[in-house]
Amino acid sequence: MWDKRSDMVVHEVDPYNAEPPPEAIADLPLTPTDAFYSRNHGPVPDIDGRTWTLRVDGLVGSALDLSLDDLQRRFEPTTVVATLQCAGNRRTGLLAVRDIPGESPWSGGATSTASWTGARLADVLRAAGAEPEETAHVAFEAPDVSRDAHPAQPYGSSIPLAKGLSGEVLLAWQMNDAPLLPVHGAPVRVVVPGYIGARSVKWVQRVTVQAEPSASYFQAVAYRLLPPDADPANQPGRGFALGPVALNSDILRPRDGDTVPAGSTEVSGYAYAGEGRSVTRVDVSCDDGRTWTQADVAEPDGPWAWRLWRSVLDLPEGRHRVTVRAWDTTGASQPESAASLWNPKGYVNNSWARIELRAEAVRRACL
Ligand code: MTE
Repeated sequence: MWDKRSDMVVHEVDPYNAEPPPEAIADLPLTPTDAFYSRNHGPVPDIDGRTWTLRVDGLVGSALDLSLDDLQRRFEPTTVVATLQCAGNRRTGLLAVRDIPGESPWSGGATSTASWTGARLADVLRAAGAEPEETAHVAFEAPDVSRDAHPAQPYGSSIPLAKGLSGEVLLAWQMNDAPLLPVHGAPVRVVVPGYIGARSVKWVQRVTVQAEPSASYFQAVAYRLLPPDADPANQPGRGFALGPVALNSDILRPRDGDTVPAGSTEVSGYAYAGEGRSVTRVDVSCDDGRTWTQADVAEPDGPWAWRLWRSVLDLPEGRHRVTVRAWDTTGASQPESAASLWNPKGYVNNSWARIELRAEAVRRACL
């Protein structure tokens, strides 16, 4: 389905919502497109790139209407490696604390990394005569109508104009050196490195500079962090809109519950910190956080990509709980437990990641 691996964990068929098994994204700086998670609030639209246009308007000098050809020829193409992470990644950890009605049980696969090629949003905004304005926003509109929203409405979102003018945000038409697939936003999507995936609007058809954040349900009601006692029903403006991704990390190999040979076992995963921060260290513990050893952390593929880490553990026979936590450039680390993070929509579980392993003595066959 949608050119994905057959072993994707499909939370919903229509709209299509699916995450890869952890081993499909482990140890790879770039996630193969057929394993990249996909999160959709409405049916995937079928848009013809030959007739698609992008409207750029609002607080700009002169509104623009750009075809795909205009976008590709008038603006210098740029490639950025960026990790996308859904705010609902690792929701299962929050569900273990308390139920979250109406939200899918995303595990740790709602995060993936790709190289994205497109025009810089900043260049397009400048061509329309947008001026830097500290408190302004850039809103994005797409045509896919979501019945998750109240009332049903097309998907939309926004980011601060300062981020939009930073040169980091792309209007991308390629993913991993190939044209975008329909399920990932063809012909053109926004890619906002360092921000939760919800801000990277797919099938974008309008970009508006405006004084206020987007009034879309997906900015004003969903993708906001609510206090634990809040009613998650339609209450525009409650809590705060999520933007930059919180420092987080996960163990991708081996899988939770696996049996491994006693002795040395390699454990690996990723760590990622969004806008304004980067990962400086990853620690692994085999005794539930009493003692830690530093993992080997690979250089990232640029400032917006996850950092892959690995650690070789010496596990005697028996059961083990392996825990990981990361640190960022501000000296901050991750919260120990998901219990203190529970919120009514189940966003941002960046607590320590844990897996249980059973180490068994290797029995050699008698020859
Ligand atoms: N854009 C549109 N138009 N419609 C959507 O439903 N989902 C958002 C974002 N952009 C969405 C969208 C969310 S919540 C995420 S996490 C990312 O797209 C997922 O991008 P992907 O499907 O390419 O992985």
